[in-house]
Amino acid sequence: MGCPSRWEVTVNMAMYMRCLGRLRCGACGFRFRVFSDGKRCSTSKVVRKPEVLPESKRQGTCQRKTFVQEQADRLEQANNSILIKCPQKVNQHQLLKSLERHGNIAHYHFFEPFKTMLLLQFERRDGVLSVQQSCNMPRPGKRFLLPNRSRFLLMSKHNDEFPDKRSAENERPHNLLQMLKDHSNVDGQLEGLVQHMQLTEEDIRLRFLVCSLLQDLCTAILPSVQIQPFGSSVNLFGRVGCDLDMFLDLGNLNIERKRTRVQRDSSLEFQVKMFRCERVATQTILSVVGNLLQHISPSFDSIQKVLNARCPVLRFCHSPSNLNCDLTASNRIALCMSETLNAFAQVDARVRPLVFAIRCWARAQNLTSTVSGAWITNFSLTLLVLFFLQQCSPSVIPTISHLRKLADRIDHRVIDSVNCTIVSDLSKITPSNNKQSLEDLLHGFFDFYGSFPFQKKSINIRTGQVQRRSDDSPMEIINPFEENLNVSKNVNKRQLLHFVELSQNASLKLEKQHQLSSNQSWGLMTLLQHGPTQQARATDGAASIHPTPKVERFTDLFHSLWSTKQGNPEAKQQTGNSSPPESKQKGQSE
Ligand code: GTP
Ligand code: MG
Repeated sequence: MGCPSRWEVTVNMAMYMRCLGRLRCGACGFRFRVFSDGKRCSTSKVVRKPEVLPESKRQGTCQRKTFVQEQADRLEQANNSILIKCPQKVNQHQLLKSLERHGNIAHYHFFEPFKTMLLLQFERRDGVLSVQQSCNMPRPGKRFLLPNRSRFLLMSKHNDEFPDKRSAENERPHNLLQMLKDHSNVDGQLEGLVQHMQLTEEDIRLRFLVCSLLQDLCTAILPSVQIQPFGSSVNLFGRVGCDLDMFLDLGNLNIERKRTRVQRDSSLEFQVKMFRCERVATQTILSVVGNLLQHISPSFDSIQKVLNARCPVLRFCHSPSNLNCDLTASNRIALCMSETLNAFAQVDARVRPLVFAIRCWARAQNLTSTVSGAWITNFSLTLLVLFFLQQCSPSVIPTISHLRKLADRIDHRVIDSVNCTIVSDLSKITPSNNKQSLEDLLHGFFDFYGSFPFQKKSINIRTGQVQRRSDDSPMEIINPFEENLNVSKNVNKRQLLHFVELSQNASLKLEKQHQLSSNQSWGLMTLLQHGPTQQARATDGAASIHPTPKVERFTDLFHSLWSTKQGNPEAKQQTGNSSPPESKQKGQSE
């Protein structure tokens, strides 16, 4: 949502009567009016036409906020936000009016995974503090409460004096199949898929708010700590329901040490706890945060400490938003990886539709799963798509080495001796001369990997070249920043063969679709038909399409594409069949 300048809103008298007041867009400072049903318009009565994007902008190469600026602004927005759990029947207009007394509202959004929830951003932090000051502690009755003054609030039931007035404005059109049918070509289907599945403005705000709420808790024990989101929540490849990856940033201790060395005139230093190594410190911190979440905060549950994995992680669910969260510590290289993927997503408008389509295809064919195992991950799939786009002639996207060459001095970043530098000003990247359609590229992807010599060659998106294998695992995708690591080390031979076989099948299906009659499914529809489950394959190894009726298959697909880890029956079913959580975690493959 954000700035309404992209919207066309006809302002009529009735709307003005329902106007809640003037607000300001948090992103660009644009002033506009907001109405009780959530609609917005500019402060003048003039109808604003939707912005016509120049060609450069449509190609995604226009000057825009850098990734780092965008992250900082989002965290700032989140710091000025509160989350309120409302009664089932709430008068949204009255509630917003009463909250406006605390400060100007910059943005709000009602949503309901289970209950009616309100995410509201004030223009200034004062608004949040004022609301917190006005809040009562609940009456404990015979129990004992811990006075936690967080920004997750409950609107008590006795305020529920208004009739039900829920708006349907935030409900997302759920019919994926209909959306695919409505398009007349594969390119349209792929673009429609992104629109249908991508994170909305509200999803993103909610994710940053969860980081901010978690940071409130963590700063109680370590005041300088920061919680940063990474992974698909910020790399532009996230779909609704994807997990929220966060890392607890303890700051750069080397910089800290250098800074303190400068203060030679001071004979004082902080008394701190020392650990044997960084890993032990990380495990300890995550364990303490896990205890905090479990015992102090009412909004986090299903806490699972996975501390012995290669990359120790704390897993939990933020129950008001139903978001599955993974918290790691000091994972700055992963944040650089997210920035790099985010840059690739912006350099050419075809990257996102292709990555979304391949991820959805793999999910539908049960090549990927919401639980870890010997199968390919979404991260590896994304790297496969990027590598393929580098191989096209002319290439659709540049290599990481090229992004590094374009970097300015301020972009220079070395983390734990790993050079993670890439250009932050994406307007410096020359748009590709490749004019292939999305359908061509999709087909090309399946052809490419349907015959790729995985046993001899590895994939490297830093150089954009295949290279001789350096390990004996079935598939080698070199980590672009830490080249001695293989991102796909977890993938076993059976899963690789299955991926290759299904790629060949998909290529054939796309080839044959022109012979199909109009009432048969075609294009992306055929590709998204369900494959056998991991469990089924583990027992019979068959690669054939699951023999369920077509409508059912699409319903299943819809559920699997939309479900989160927790709510996914397939994930639960597969848990018994996969490695225990401790043995397979993010980056563990390497
Ligand atoms: P989703 O499946 O939508 O959650 O995609 P994702 O990109 O968020 O993947 P995931 O949650 O598995 O991992 C989050 C981030 O961790 C990725 O975007 C990568 O930056 C990083 N990551 C994941 N797996 C690996 C790995 O095997 N090696 C390395 N180096 N980084 C990884
Ligand atoms: Mg993720």
